[in-house]
Amino acid sequence: MGSSRPVQSVTNTELYNRWAKVYDTDGNILQSIDDLMLPDLLNQVFTFLPSSNLVTITELGCGTGRNTVKLLTPSPAFPQITSIAALDLSPGMLTIAKQRCEDHLKSNASDTTQAPPLIEFHEFDALNPDLSPEINALERKADLVLSTLVLEHLPLDVFFRTVKYFLRSGGYVLLTNMHAGMGRISQAGFVDEVTGEKIRGHSYAHETSQVVEEGEKWGFEVVGEVGERAVGSADLGTVVGERGKKWIGVNVWFGFVMRLSQMETQP
Ligand SMILES: C[S@@+](CC[C@H](N)C(=O)[O-])C[C@H]1O[C@@H](n2cnc3c(N)ncnc32)[C@H](O)[C@@H]1O
Repeated sequence: MGSSRPVQSVTNTELYNRWAKVYDTDGNILQSIDDLMLPDLLNQVFTFLPSSNLVTITELGCGTGRNTVKLLTPSPAFPQITSIAALDLSPGMLTIAKQRCEDHLKSNASDTTQAPPLIEFHEFDALNPDLSPEINALERKADLVLSTLVLEHLPLDVFFRTVKYFLRSGGYVLLTNMHAGMGRISQAGFVDEVTGEKIRGHSYAHETSQVVEEGEKWGFEVVGEVGERAVGSADLGTVVGERGKKWIGVNVWFGFVMRLSQMETQP
């Protein structure tokens, strides 16, 4: 499955600042599988949250807002989301996310059935949280932390420490990630159209079971199913494009919901 393309290794900030321009259009199969799998997980986590409650969400690694914007679209399955804090390492990705959410809210402004969530964006590095002191205001505020396709860039303890920092006790995390089956062969990156190089950053191939175990150490428990998804031949041309061909039969994605114990206090 290897490619003879030259590879350039860069920091994750540089990777995503450069990838931002084509992130939503370069036919990345993992995003397509995530688009397919996320709605069920979102519906599931919203059934766990009391329907009478107003919901506050922190998104860790919002990227270009691919999934942030889904939270702005009212759905009968969703509770009333009052605020979303969308955080990301990469200013380039955040610029696109802000524009995308602004455009979405403008074009849906005539829908007055429900007030749209207040949304704020922050540059934030989970590996260096002290560089973003304004984030302190978000400590223990979230009912839900959403984090899609970000975990591969973080050590597991950093991921769960960060999620726990943002969550109120009894809150939920919905996480999706590149499966280790894919991560052992590949990692997040894109092809620079000008140089033809594959640009990649730093990634980990986390096994699903290790993620669950680490979460448990931090006071989380899985609720619902742990989902794993391989690319099937029927996905070609429907869910994924040509780039999906080499991944047929390989697990590429996992995702699930965990709840933080009510008893947990911050470390
Ligand atoms: C594969 S993208 C996923 C973006 C978006 N969640 C999605 O599903 O399309 C990974 C994102 O994680 C962000 N990221 C990587 N390392 C991070 C860190 N240390 N702290 C915060 N965000 C990080 C990147 O900037 C990038 O936007």
